[in-house]
Amino acid sequence: MQRTAHPLAYPLLARITRPTLRVPRIGVIVSDAALLRAVLLDTESFTKTGPGSSAELWTPVLGPSVLLNMEGADHAALRRRLAPLFAPAFVGALTEETIGEGADRLTGRLVAGEPVDLVAEVREYAGQVISRLVGLDRGVMGEELFARVSAITGFVSLARPRFTPAQIAEAREVLDELTRHARRAYREAEAPAEGDLAAAHETLPGRMRGLGLSEEEAMGAVGAFVLTGTETLVSYLPRLVAILADTGWLDVLAHDRTLLDAAIGEGLRVTTPSPVMLRSVERAAHVGEEAVHPGDRLVLATFLANRGAGRFDPIGNPAASLKQLWFGAGAHFCLGAPLAMAQIQRTIGAVLDAHAVAPLTITGRRAQRGALIPAYRSLTLATPTVARTRR
Ligand code: HEM
Repeated sequence: MQRTAHPLAYPLLARITRPTLRVPRIGVIVSDAALLRAVLLDTESFTKTGPGSSAELWTPVLGPSVLLNMEGADHAALRRRLAPLFAPAFVGALTEETIGEGADRLTGRLVAGEPVDLVAEVREYAGQVISRLVGLDRGVMGEELFARVSAITGFVSLARPRFTPAQIAEAREVLDELTRHARRAYREAEAPAEGDLAAAHETLPGRMRGLGLSEEEAMGAVGAFVLTGTETLVSYLPRLVAILADTGWLDVLAHDRTLLDAAIGEGLRVTTPSPVMLRSVERAAHVGEEAVHPGDRLVLATFLANRGAGRFDPIGNPAASLKQLWFGAGAHFCLGAPLAMAQIQRTIGAVLDAHAVAPLTITGRRAQRGALIPAYRSLTLATPTVARTRR
């Protein structure tokens, strides 16, 4: 799967057996979990804003203050203001409002014998969530706009720390289109009363205004959510279902969900939907035995670090010891993790509900080529009896 996604990068990285390795034009690759966490926690020595970091990549597209290109007090203050949007009750309601009906329908369709492409299904959910994030009613995010958003993350390449001017222009155009709606929602919103975050009629950009974000901060946050929160889930959920089906765990979990959380964590560990993080060295330091210097680029190969803990195993659950490294660590730990987990649980729950009534198999699968994040292009689920009679 990873080989198909990035024929050159993944085989190269997967051969690395040392905890750190300096590769000309790429940077120092870190593939040991403990070292990687130590880098993430040491914000004095390592930053997201220096040469070769993600800021170089994203600032020309998203502007200067979008969390993933900020450090220090400003970063912490913006995260604090956004925190209520990711509180459990809020993400629970958002998930139910955006994908609840679709997930219930998914169970019904599968039980009725309809073959379902899970990639298209999850992409549809992601579109619903994005529509909500940018302040639109359901269903506005069409396939075409979605494909253009995906294309932006497809521009990212480890060997090229910056986007080309043409890529920046395309990315800005897509984000302008998305944030045009968000801007209107922001401007039209009355600042909601404090604590009134659950009011169903409020739009998300409106809520950001209520939380004290300036218009530019709110638009930056919308852009960051769209870019970070879409591809990761469209990659992960079909991969998780494929792993569960291939290992027999779909059967086990459909009838007993005791180990479902462990299976979700193990799935995140072995797939690592955000496979690599970048940092720039701010002051001389050591990463393990490797001396690094200001301006060096660190490529944190989370997918290698996570996979070092072994094969998918919800019983032994090696993921438990990694403290969710797939969501990062420290100051930049994935802000959207609660939303991601709510969507994952709702969707996988819908598939398991179907499997408990009408056992499912994978009747077709194709891997996506040339994507930054390894993913299926399609993954079709169906009940074998129905698949046979339709042939
Ligand atoms: C399975 C799905 C997801 C995975 C594996 C994932 C992974 C990550 C990782 C590893 C980071 C840290 C990057 C770094 O330190 O360089 C991160 C940051 C972030 N994620 Fe996620 N993410 C997921 C879903 C989401 C969703 C659904 C959203 C929001 C709607 C989201 C929003 C963010 C934001 C805003 C940041 C930047 C936080 C900061 O810099 O302070 N993510 N994510």
